[in-house]
Amino acid sequence: MVRAPSTIANLGAGYDVFGIALKDPFDIIEAKRTSEKGVRVEKVEGIGALTVTMEHTKNTASVAAAKVLEMGKADFGLSIIIKKGIRPCSGMGSSGAGAAGGAYAANQFLDKPLPMSKLLWAAAKGEEASSGSMHADNCGPSLIGGFTIIHSYDPIEIVRVDPPANLGIVAALPGFAVPTKEARKVLPKEVDMKVLISQMGQVASFVAGMAKGDLDLISRSVNDRIVEPARAPLIPHLKEAEKVAMKAGAFASFLGGSGPCICSFYDMNKSDGSEIGQAMQNFYEARGVECLCWVTTWGEGVRKEEK
Ligand code: HSE
Repeated sequence: MVRAPSTIANLGAGYDVFGIALKDPFDIIEAKRTSEKGVRVEKVEGIGALTVTMEHTKNTASVAAAKVLEMGKADFGLSIIIKKGIRPCSGMGSSGAGAAGGAYAANQFLDKPLPMSKLLWAAAKGEEASSGSMHADNCGPSLIGGFTIIHSYDPIEIVRVDPPANLGIVAALPGFAVPTKEARKVLPKEVDMKVLISQMGQVASFVAGMAKGDLDLISRSVNDRIVEPARAPLIPHLKEAEKVAMKAGAFASFLGGSGPCICSFYDMNKSDGSEIGQAMQNFYEARGVECLCWVTTWGEGVRKEEK
């Protein structure tokens, strides 16, 4: 049985490159060895389970697990049970956690376990089965934890940076779904050079802020001029909600992944973040939209969980 954490991708300007693992929420994946080859999804339960496909060629966990078994030349198969703690279509890496968990769980059964780089490739293939594109900015941090940078996709390589210990994260999830596939369709095909230069300044400074533990620099390095503006019409009240989080004490607030999650950062040395979570909930509920909130911090990657 493994625990695969939720993640927030993009983190402002780092589209398809940045991601961070959260301490909460997470998915649990249980795998059992079977004598017949292949990976079967036995059951999916938990939040949003009915929307998760059990079709083994489309489910991110089974696709990733099957890739691992194939690479490990396994002469057996697996039957898996997925317990969702992460709602699908949330922008909190639901499919990425499934993919990371599936790859990691399958690896436990191999006589010669695969290295992390191969698990990452298998997980990215799992993600591809769900979103239609091979992005690893959710399954990457779900696998290795912390703040991650996709260095390259071909070959796939990921870099981990430990975020500051006092980096608090509030993930507010309004009650509507934004499928990643749809949210990718609205993005521009080309960008203006001036916008690109601004974006590069933001991502480079964001990495420096993370590495130096400089929350002030991070707060000034999440301005995405390309992706979030294109997606904002898909997320009702996004800009107002970000302002609400800032007013309640967050030092940065932006669209989480492809949305609709709104991710806010706060300084754990200054507050416990509960006011931000409450303000976000009140804001959406006043507009007739249910809103789940996690007041949490960054966390480690997928790991074995004792029953
Ligand atoms: N980088 C991906 C996107 C993440 O923004 O489409 C999806 O959560």
